[in-house]
Amino acid sequence: MSSDNIASVLTENRVFPPPAEFAARARLNAEKLAALHAEAQADHTGFWAGLAKKNLGWQTPFTQVLDDSAAPNYRWFTDGKLNASANCLDRHLLARGDKIAIRFEGEKGDTRNYTYKQLHAEVCKLANVLKAQGVNKGDRVVIYMPMAPEAVIAMQACARIGAIHSVVFGGFSASSLKDRIEDTGARLLITADGGHRAGNIVPLKKVADEALAAGCKTIGKVIVHQRTSHGVDMQAGRDLWWHELMDTASERCEPEWVESEHPLFLLYTSGSTGKPKGIQHSTGGYLLGATMTTQWVFDIRDDDVFWCTADVGWITGHSYVAYGPLANGATILMYEGAPTIPDAGRFWKICQDHGVTIFYTAPTAIRALMKLGEEWPNKYDLSKLRLLGSVGEPINPEAWMWYHRVIGKERLPIVDTWWQTETGAIMIAPVPGAITTKPGSCTKPLPGICVEVVDEAGTPIREQDAGGYLVVSKPWPSMLRTVWGDNERYIKTYWGQFQNKYYVAGDSTHRDADGCYWIMGRVDDVLNVSGHRLGTMEVESALVSHPRIAEAAVVGRPHEVKGESVFAFVIAKGPRPTGEEADKLAKELRDHVAKEIGALAKPDDIRFADNLPKTRSGKIMRRLLRSIAKGEEITQDTSTLENPAIVAQLSGKA
Ligand code: WTA
Repeated sequence: MSSDNIASVLTENRVFPPPAEFAARARLNAEKLAALHAEAQADHTGFWAGLAKKNLGWQTPFTQVLDDSAAPNYRWFTDGKLNASANCLDRHLLARGDKIAIRFEGEKGDTRNYTYKQLHAEVCKLANVLKAQGVNKGDRVVIYMPMAPEAVIAMQACARIGAIHSVVFGGFSASSLKDRIEDTGARLLITADGGHRAGNIVPLKKVADEALAAGCKTIGKVIVHQRTSHGVDMQAGRDLWWHELMDTASERCEPEWVESEHPLFLLYTSGSTGKPKGIQHSTGGYLLGATMTTQWVFDIRDDDVFWCTADVGWITGHSYVAYGPLANGATILMYEGAPTIPDAGRFWKICQDHGVTIFYTAPTAIRALMKLGEEWPNKYDLSKLRLLGSVGEPINPEAWMWYHRVIGKERLPIVDTWWQTETGAIMIAPVPGAITTKPGSCTKPLPGICVEVVDEAGTPIREQDAGGYLVVSKPWPSMLRTVWGDNERYIKTYWGQFQNKYYVAGDSTHRDADGCYWIMGRVDDVLNVSGHRLGTMEVESALVSHPRIAEAAVVGRPHEVKGESVFAFVIAKGPRPTGEEADKLAKELRDHVAKEIGALAKPDDIRFADNLPKTRSGKIMRRLLRSIAKGEEITQDTSTLENPAIVAQLSGKA
């Protein structure tokens, strides 16, 4: 960990107590929250067991709460049986059957609503379709869809029959899709002809065809939802139209009751080494985490319209679009497209038109919309909003204050939520009716979540006002269970650093004198570009797979809107390209990375050099490269470098 991360000097002193009006109506005020914390402290597993009994519907109640006999492979509620889709849908049919579950708006302005009854019927139909195609409990199904209700229907249908879904974000390339399909060994792919994004058609089916042509031998069938209705190739015997299959499917489908530990889904995410890992989540524990945090952090109520802007391809879209709000019987809003189509007011117009009450987005979106000017939100009636949220990366105080002032009209609480794909649900965040917020801090751990700050040796730092590694000291129900197909990697990556004693998040943090947490960022070689996790090694591998490239080193560079951007130092085969040739090759490399991974991984900066700065033992000095990328004066000792003269060239000065 770099010392500048640990010793960050905090200058943010503004505090915002919960607005009285909000606190008066909130599910949790300070007193109730304190009682929950006390209960969790007194009996950690008993606390979670009580919540699981009260908040989830079990077909077979559990008697064992936590099985730690194979730690750090923890298991929760092991002898209980339930079904995630029955919890999200069937449970609400009696009391809320005609309540809207999903409000949808397409980028072109088309809208559709699904009541709980209708959503239930669609999910049952698709579940029957999947069964008819031979999908059984435990089989993997990959979902590569636009942001539309059908994506949620597909996830819920898998859950209903005990199939394990793995959603791949629609912005990933054919090669990324192929890698994920092959790692899961999925037998079926659900996709769409395309989606509408930023005025264009995202050609999902075409990309899927490319992925399947390159491998993916386990895939027998492809179900294609018709969204854009542009021409696509349908391969006879393999590709089937969603609407044709659904036409004749029955609306009745008994849920498959699965063990609490049965995998609900796999979601791939980047780490510092190797290919993205398939993070495996359970059914019971995961659903409990998603359910409770939707209550605690979003204060969900029956009259809310909850808009989480995340795509279902990310964990945020799993927990706060597809599962958490539905498990609570809430109304969600889904929007298909880009925030600036047809203009910079789109998000705010959607909030107005649909009466959105809870709005949850990423700092990168806030910063981008902030740059476009406050006249855009000011054109719309945002008076229905009652709570704002932020997720995915540290929010800088300036963006927080803009969110507070321009969107929240200085009256709405903001919940800055820290969590990860691996944690399944929000871990550290203000409970809005109870906790005083500070711009840039995710404040305090939720009840039942035991967080510590530890030093390099793994010793908890007890004093207030401390910096170090962020770790979790006790298992929690929604934690990842393993890395799909590689349990050793699970143990090594998340537990190895401190001898299996702590879950190591990979972030550094500062805890201030009030016990509030300030996340400083990743301590490993993981970048956070517009809230999306990217491994530097993934981008490096993509670059060196280009025939003209010999070596590459990638670092993050602070970026005003994206948080971080990709900066690549590249060594070409043969003489170092300069001038026009360099520009041409740089463009080619950007396109190459987009093709290998997806557009989100494109380097903003590419700098060609004769060599990389290496120590005599051959290690690339990344810290030095990070300083160069930032344009900092190089004050580090470069005398241990194999080739000290390279620094000037890398800095663009030679
Ligand atoms: C970062 C997204 C600061 C962090 C839910 C973490 C944050 C990584 C916050 C996980 C936040 C997420 N403040 N940093 N509120 N939320 N992060 O798996 O570095 O896509 O480790 O999960 O995002 O990213 P992931």
